[in-house]
Amino acid sequence: MIKAIVYKSETGFTKEYAEMLSNKLDIPCYTLEEAKKNLNKQDEIVYLGWICAGIIKGVNKVRNRYKVKCYGAVGAFPKDNKYVDSLVKSNALEKEKLFYLRGGINFGKLKGYKKFIVKIVGNVLEKNDKGKEGSEELIRLFNEGASFVDSKNLDEMIDYIKK
Ligand SMILES: Cc1cc2nc3c(=O)[nH]c(=O)nc-3n(C[C@H](O)[C@H](O)[C@H](O)COP(=O)(O)O)c2cc1C
Repeated sequence: MIKAIVYKSETGFTKEYAEMLSNKLDIPCYTLEEAKKNLNKQDEIVYLGWICAGIIKGVNKVRNRYKVKCYGAVGAFPKDNKYVDSLVKSNALEKEKLFYLRGGINFGKLKGYKKFIVKIVGNVLEKNDKGKEGSEELIRLFNEGASFVDSKNLDEMIDYIKK
């Protein structure tokens, strides 16, 4: 039985998904730090983490400590099978179940080098991709910020958890 949704969020999008999931499944959600106090080792959990440079934050802190039913990776890019496959590889999740959940960019909550990196990505996209089909939304996201959080994005994960 799943005891909790555990998550790591930098600017709030992963937290939003964790809270939605917690409400829909009627199980508590905890940050990584709260989980240490409230859960026992090897308790079953669902883990959600934000993506930073291809790495799902917190995965290494939960993979041996808890029994993870499935993982959710929250990133800014659109969902795409190739991209999800690359996340599986870069996070060594070949033997696990991973779902991709689109978050967004919140400049108001980004600080220091992280804000700087996002702005650089925005500049690179603008330089290389401007005018290309489908690039406008991504360029705007990385320059101005936006949220793509949607409870529908959790449907597939919820089906898997309930199965
Ligand atoms: C330094 C940095 C690196 C990022 N790298 C990626 C990335 O590799 N792939 C991706 O999809 N999103 C990337 N993002 C975007 C975040 O994953 C996205 O903003 C996510 O929704 C943040 O979730 P949070 O609000 O829970 O922290 C990056 C953001 C920052 C600040």
